[in-house]
Amino acid sequence: MDIEAQKRAAGEAAIEFVEDHAVIGVGTGTTVKYFIDALAIMKHRIDGAVSSSEQSSRLLRAQGIQVLDLNAVGTIGVYVDGADECDRGRHLIKGGGGALTREKIIAAVAKKFVCIVDAHKCVEVLGRFPLPVEVIPMARSYVAREIERRGGTPVWRADCVTDNGNWILDVHGLSITDPEHLESEWNQITGVVTVGLFAHRPADVVLVGDGRRF
Ligand code: 5RP
Repeated sequence: MDIEAQKRAAGEAAIEFVEDHAVIGVGTGTTVKYFIDALAIMKHRIDGAVSSSEQSSRLLRAQGIQVLDLNAVGTIGVYVDGADECDRGRHLIKGGGGALTREKIIAAVAKKFVCIVDAHKCVEVLGRFPLPVEVIPMARSYVAREIERRGGTPVWRADCVTDNGNWILDVHGLSITDPEHLESEWNQITGVVTVGLFAHRPADVVLVGDGRRF
């Protein structure tokens, strides 16, 4: 099965977790686009969606799905999102699409986080994909130096301003054997908004496009 077919299969498989009359958390990316397409078919059975990016909000509205403000919503039963890498513990690297901060907020609120990936995203050790870190713009150089001190090689994603008005450093050269520790430690660097490592709040279930789930 090619990658695109796997993305579609994973996105469509996530529909089984959508409950009637619920507000659905919707992530960002090319895999999520397939989920949104599938959600549109049953849009009359849900109360709306909370979206992790302006891009996904546009896609949802184009399908006639109401986009709600997270502050106006009590709970989110299920959050469906992709990932850039996933290990066996369901820890994730996210933020390839730049939406990591809103994604982390929705994941924190959701009762169940369903991650949808193609098989190429599954790894033994996280870090082959450069770890995105969202930073306050004036802190970019300082945060980059602090990351270098910790053994990473940060590269400024110069063409990207996040939906929150911030910048992103993509950190190369990591082998993340203790994701919880790295997430906690890097979160303490002043100027860091979000580390794109979802370790303290991993996915609850991962649906792989080749049919595996764990
Ligand atoms: C966006 C993300 C995406 O979930 C991640 O980049 C995967 O995207 P895709 O499904 O297009 O491969 O974290 O910030």
